[in-house]
Amino acid sequence: MAESKNTNPIRTLNKMGSMFFDKDPAYTAFLEHIEQTRGYFADIGSAYGYSTLEALKRGGRLIAVDLEKRHLDVLLQDCPTLYKPRLETICGHFPNNVELPKNSLDGILLSRVLIFLTPDEIASAFTKAYDALNSGGLVYIVTSSPLLKKWSSLSPLYDKQKLEGSLWPGRIENLWELVPEEAAILPNTIQLIDTESLEKGLTQAGFKVKSCDYYPKDRPNDEEAFAWTYAIAMK
Ligand SMILES: C[S@@+](CC[C@H](N)C(=O)[O-])C[C@H]1O[C@@H](n2cnc3c(N)ncnc32)[C@H](O)[C@@H]1O
Repeated sequence: MAESKNTNPIRTLNKMGSMFFDKDPAYTAFLEHIEQTRGYFADIGSAYGYSTLEALKRGGRLIAVDLEKRHLDVLLQDCPTLYKPRLETICGHFPNNVELPKNSLDGILLSRVLIFLTPDEIASAFTKAYDALNSGGLVYIVTSSPLLKKWSSLSPLYDKQKLEGSLWPGRIENLWELVPEEAAILPNTIQLIDTESLEKGLTQAGFKVKSCDYYPKDRPNDEEAFAWTYAIAMK
């Protein structure tokens, strides 16, 4: 089982980035929400289930969703017997072929998964998340930002698409050409998301956005500054 002391991201088995141990504001709020309510939650794109296990530890009932069955197998193997009655796993593509119970969840974590979706799929994911939440339920999102310094070679395309008025200017369809070292880690087509797109997408799906910003912001000369865009939004 992944220990919370380990801070090195662990690569996924399907070249869909890595599972992180970062405590960004959305993830921290997700865990606090679980601790307070011990309610019913979902972790979409759970990978090996670090967040799911942390949520189970805090007393939540969890649905873990992932595209890759081998990730969920690791989660099930690592899950203490005591927590198993509170864990469901679904292997599939969210939103394309995963159904969540309607008007039932207190919170949904979408951590580092929107990068793999098309704009239409993101809109559908937000609608499905909205439908699955109880009134007052919260969606917690963390996703790759286009402002990460080490991805500066993507900036000209992002800036051009933004200037052209694209709703999702972080669409990159030739990542491997622009950042060859990412070919072993990420698909060639990815969706980076800035705060403006995230806020607009959530609002269009009916959510009330409580917070939306970049993380981390307090490290001016750090390569990892502005790596993530996060949001917390309410149904
Ligand atoms: C970058 S990892 C993120 C893991 C973890 N949530 C985190 O924040 O560290 C992305 C995970 O999402 C899964 N994934 C990607 N697209 C998905 C989709 N459309 N539906 C469900 N899972 C998906 C991948 O298999 C992978 O395990």
